[in-house]
Amino acid sequence: MTLAGKRVLLIVAGGIAAFKVPELVRLLRKQDCGVTAVLTKAGAQFVTPLSLQVLTENKVYTNLFSLTDENEMGHIELSRAADLVVVAPATANILARMAAGIAEDLATTLLLATDKRVLVAPAMNVRMWLHPATVANMATLAARGVAVVGPDEGVMACNEYGFGRLAEPPAIVAAIAALLATADKPLAGKHILVTSGPTHEPIDPVRYIANRSSGRQGHAIAAALAELGARVSLVSGPVGIADPPGVEVRHVETAEQMLAACRAALPADAGVFAAAVADWRVANAADLKLKKAPGAPPPDLALTPNPDILTTIAAPGPLRPRLVVGFAAETHDLLRYAEDKRRRKGCDWIVANDVGAGTAIMGGTENEVHLLTEAGFEDWPRAGKDEVARRLARRIAEALA
Ligand code: CTP
Repeated sequence: MTLAGKRVLLIVAGGIAAFKVPELVRLLRKQDCGVTAVLTKAGAQFVTPLSLQVLTENKVYTNLFSLTDENEMGHIELSRAADLVVVAPATANILARMAAGIAEDLATTLLLATDKRVLVAPAMNVRMWLHPATVANMATLAARGVAVVGPDEGVMACNEYGFGRLAEPPAIVAAIAALLATADKPLAGKHILVTSGPTHEPIDPVRYIANRSSGRQGHAIAAALAELGARVSLVSGPVGIADPPGVEVRHVETAEQMLAACRAALPADAGVFAAAVADWRVANAADLKLKKAPGAPPPDLALTPNPDILTTIAAPGPLRPRLVVGFAAETHDLLRYAEDKRRRKGCDWIVANDVGAGTAIMGGTENEVHLLTEAGFEDWPRAGKDEVARRLARRIAEALA
């Protein structure tokens, strides 16, 4: 993995170990990795902004208020522009503030605002490292996906011996390289099945029962998952939109064909069932076109239930994907019906949306969804279907990590 062209946002907290930071920056710059440094107030006691500015060949940021100038980059942008956020040295104090979600200076504000992976390199006295508070904070951060390098064992500045020394700069660089290699593609090596679009249930060779699903949301989810490195098998009903790039697509018409294609695509690590499958098909579909005859009554269409694809794939068994995500489109009592659907269909998550009159969601380009999991529900803001898809893909990547 080459670090050339990558950008690291380096947060330097206060601690004697900060003396190793210039060497860390030098190693990163040697590989043409861009570094933007942010010093906490305490960090600036151990390493000067000027030395970091020279080494990073970049402006060094030291507090929140210097960013309020219109010409400066806002703190959100500063964290978004990076590929990875690294906290080195990470003191017990900054780890506690991260775990608690405190944003009281530039460094902690960036850490709370970032959507990028975070690597911490702890450095502190061994008793502070082993204190239950620090142990609990590290567990909280690990559960949120924060990566750790070190600390090493050895003699510390305080003359005590144990774990607490900042990892050596080459080890930190190696951890950065390993994280960046997987950071963009957290779903690499994973296989995900997605259904999308409506199904068409024939009445006769020229007529069918259908619904208003455009397939936009399901196709956007397939694309977003592929972008994160997953191998995606998309089983699509008849839609008027293009196949998403980088995705294996099976085109089907009916619910029965969709179920067969889904079964054929297993095993999968996750299944996302976004298709608006017709609940019923015509039991007595005609092989020949039904003809009108003067005075004759309209044909009687006997309906029979279609298989429920989501329920079938979510049923316990060796081929059940680890994570099964269903959708619920409701016009009223959304959360109650959606939670009921989650349990009844045996899926892990339900993406619920309100498709009531006036929402312009079904067939539209925007969506406003609620994610229901075992833990409860989250309201996501109304956004483009692509944005909703990217957010769901990131959540799936976290769940499968
Ligand atoms: N679904 C499916 N196969 C079906 C019907 C639905 O896989 N035959 C999936 C959809 O892709 C979606 C979820 O089930 O993920 C919810 O679909 P919905 O039609 O809203 O559920 P129903 O059980 O039909 O509920 P309702 O009582 O609202 O009709």
